[in-house]
Amino acid sequence: MLVLVVLVSAIVPATVVRGARAQSTQGVAAFQWTDIATERGDRLPNFSFCGYHASEQPLPSDATQPSVSLDATKGDQTQRIQDALDETAAAGGGVVILGEGDFVVSSKGLTVPSGVVLRGAGVGLTQLKLSELGAEPAISFGSGTTIPSVPPLHFTNIVDQYVPIGASQVTADNTTGLSPGDRVFIQRQVTGQWVRANGMGDLSLNGKEQTWLGVDAVVRQPREIKSIHGNTVTLDIPLTDALDTFQNYMSPVLVAFMPPNASSEMGVEHLSLSLSPTCSGAPLNTHCDNPAISFSPWTTSSWARNLEIAGFNAFVIVQYNTSRITLQNVSMIRDADATDHDNTDRALPADILIQGTQILVQDCAQRGLSTARSFAVMTGSLVAGPNAVLRHKTASDNQTIVPHQRWAHGFLVEDTEAQVRFFNRATNGTGHGWAINAGVGWNLRGTVLVQSPPLGVNWCVGCSGTVDERGNGTFVERGQEVVPKSLFEKQLADRKGK
Ligand SMILES: *[C@@H]1O[C@H](CO)[C@@H](O)[C@H](O)[C@H]1NC(C)=O
Ligand SMILES: *[C@@H]1O[C@H](CO)[C@@H](O)[C@H](O)[C@H]1NC(C)=O
Ligand SMILES: *[C@@H]1O[C@H](CO)[C@@H](O)[C@H](O)[C@H]1NC(C)=O
Ligand SMILES: *[C@@H]1O[C@H](CO)[C@@H](O)[C@H](O)[C@H]1NC(C)=O
Ligand SMILES: *[C@@H]1O[C@H](CO)[C@@H](O)[C@H](O)[C@H]1NC(C)=O
Ligand SMILES: *[C@@H]1O[C@H](CO)[C@@H](O)[C@H](O)[C@H]1NC(C)=O
Ligand SMILES: *[C@@H]1O[C@H](CO)[C@@H](O)[C@H](O)[C@H]1NC(C)=O
Ligand SMILES: *[C@@H]1O[C@H](CO)[C@@H](O)[C@H](O)[C@H]1NC(C)=O
Repeated sequence: MLVLVVLVSAIVPATVVRGARAQSTQGVAAFQWTDIATERGDRLPNFSFCGYHASEQPLPSDATQPSVSLDATKGDQTQRIQDALDETAAAGGGVVILGEGDFVVSSKGLTVPSGVVLRGAGVGLTQLKLSELGAEPAISFGSGTTIPSVPPLHFTNIVDQYVPIGASQVTADNTTGLSPGDRVFIQRQVTGQWVRANGMGDLSLNGKEQTWLGVDAVVRQPREIKSIHGNTVTLDIPLTDALDTFQNYMSPVLVAFMPPNASSEMGVEHLSLSLSPTCSGAPLNTHCDNPAISFSPWTTSSWARNLEIAGFNAFVIVQYNTSRITLQNVSMIRDADATDHDNTDRALPADILIQGTQILVQDCAQRGLSTARSFAVMTGSLVAGPNAVLRHKTASDNQTIVPHQRWAHGFLVEDTEAQVRFFNRATNGTGHGWAINAGVGWNLRGTVLVQSPPLGVNWCVGCSGTVDERGNGTFVERGQEVVPKSLFEKQLADRKGK
């Protein structure tokens, strides 16, 4: 037992190569963020791939000619708007614009099809109004069909002993049948060894055993093959979770797959969406769980921008297997808090739930009641990075940005006053345990709790607010803002410059 403990702690990546601090003539310290690395070579993930088209192109202009314009009229407008959206899709895509005024929508909700944009005349000018939430989100992007799994086309073992976070290359056992451009999962089946080494093998609450991650769980990193040289496979996006074969923690594989025909190029912009009577503050596990906006599984390269959404309990859900989604300047208004104020054990709703990958959330805000409690942005179980949240605003300290459960990886939160927690949620939830690996807090001014799992690392760079001392994550330049102000934008500029 002692031997095991020693071995485990010996491989814990704990040391930081601190940036060289040269004094310029102005006396400003130069800080080299690119030097940040663990002993094992883990580096900050490259978050620049988040967003619409991996942020390689801007969001489409919001001044394009609409295909269809609808004026506000009395009565339920659900079918009228849906018909316009479907006709536009059938004609090859385009913009449906809603004029100024109120549009009443039923609990059936609206579905934006592939290639179609739903645009209003502006926040506060065009108002979509629901008086009831049903079994559907108010607005769904893409069809709601869940494709349970995609068949693997090709399968090969990865033979490296350790591939650090931030690496782009893996060595495959056999690259026959693989080609550049192939979509792949770098994946591994969870093992008992890895679960126990992370201290998650014996979770129990009130005498009841809890499972953090079972050995049936698969940790996936969706990628594309960029090039192949011999047995070396280069991926489009650096890894956001390390591959570690030490003591049989993992047996990683590379699986090529054919993605389903996904809905893309969908947008919702420039309008207000409200639910009254409100669902804000409703207990979980009711119809109020349905979100204002949902990006359906496998949806890709789509966006929601310049929106004001009020009265929901869940505002935006970006579902599993989605990718390259941008949420920009979305205001969410909680107009009621949970009624059981004294019960701090109460499960809280999430404003934005990220389950996909390459998701970019920027300049979004939780407004309204300053005492309302929620998870401002959270990730689900095993959510694969990179995902990024920039300049997020919250109305109160009771709204926290927090990976929620079970080893999400590659999550950036930067330039915000909001409270951020990257930590071991242990028995909370139903054994949420270590919620995040390769989390990066960057220029955080609010209260932070940053812990690193035994077999991983979370960073806090330029964190200047109150630091919860339980945090044993890697702090760099603690207490002062660092340059660049935005890691995401710096990484994107560097990548575009190449
Ligand atoms: C996402 O894709 C994976 C791999 O095919 C699959 O196992 C999983 O069920 C999918 N989830 C959803 C919600 O489509
Ligand atoms: C690689 O796999 C192919 C078929 O998938 C097989 O024909 C070939 O013999 C394998 N090469 C090696 C070196 O094992
Ligand atoms: C996608 O759609 C095209 C054309 O409709 C079809 O040929 C192809 O088989 C589809 N691919 C998948 C994975 O369903
Ligand atoms: C954000 O949305 C608001 C409306 O809610 C709008 O007034 C403002 O101009 C938008 N900001 C940007 C930078 O687009
Ligand atoms: C957080 O919530 C508690 C309990 O509802 C409330 O008393 C407190 O004022 C809230 N804090 C802030 C900063 O709003
Ligand atoms: C679990 O929840 C309880 C009650 O909300 C809280 O006091 C405790 O700090 C939480 N534990 C962890 C590890 O977050
Ligand atoms: C951080 O502390 C937790 C206990 O709270 C421990 O399980 C973990 O191994 C520590 N992480 C590192 C990197 O030492
Ligand atoms: C990731 O970010 C770095 C640093 O900004 C950039 O130079 C590099 O090109 C990016 N990596 C990849 C694989 O694009």
